[in-house]
Amino acid sequence: MNWIYPRIIAHRCGGALAPENTLAGLRVAAGRGCKGVEFDVMLSGDGTPILIHDETLERTTDGRGRVAETSDAELARLDAGGWHGAQFAGEPLPSFGDAAELCRALGLWANVEIKPSTGADAETARRVAALARELWRDAPSPLLSSFSTEALEVARDAAPELPRGLLVDAPPADWLKRLRRLGCLSLHCSRRHFGRRLLDEARRADVPLLVYTVNDAEDAIQLLRSGVAAVFIDRIDLLSGWTE
Ligand code: G3P
Ligand code: MG
Repeated sequence: MNWIYPRIIAHRCGGALAPENTLAGLRVAAGRGCKGVEFDVMLSGDGTPILIHDETLERTTDGRGRVAETSDAELARLDAGGWHGAQFAGEPLPSFGDAAELCRALGLWANVEIKPSTGADAETARRVAALARELWRDAPSPLLSSFSTEALEVARDAAPELPRGLLVDAPPADWLKRLRRLGCLSLHCSRRHFGRRLLDEARRADVPLLVYTVNDAEDAIQLLRSGVAAVFIDRIDLLSGWTE
């Protein structure tokens, strides 16, 4: 299989064991023996790439409103950890730069999901790709992925040397054609839409197939044994002892 990266990837930094998309999550993942992490990157109102999943602040911080309309100064005042548990209170909303630096310090490989707010696909991809190239210039490169075709096109043109993954919910019938056109290395699909036929198609095309989000340990191990390249997992505690 054409896959040289970790096969178990902690979803949104530390999965369910830490507030999502935080530096605390990266520390928890590394502490649990994870070798790879995934996180989501969006632009702030000042155009700074930061780690967050939703377009709005309410669910994962104590702030309100749209991420794309909030300045870096306002974001710096937010608590991105208290919602998860008192021990994470005061956890900052991290910049992409800080997350990359910590990944490198902890020896974590990263799948950087480009998560544009509505209408910001090109700008987000341009900034994330340029910064990723800079942040990992003398280290093994991260894998960029996105649900946005436009973002993948822009990332390809901005930093062609960085590998890319085509991220989908349900793979469209022409997924391989799209993947080739975008110059992607891998296909990332939802567990709900994973099936034997897709795995066979991916295998025949020599395309690594990644599946998200798998939270049952037996299911994850079965998927990995059947030839799935990697799984994204929230329950990183369940697979900490698993070796290939
Ligand atoms: O990249 C895999 C997974 O993170 C995609 O879904 O919504 O958790 O970003 P989501
Ligand atoms: Mg994601």
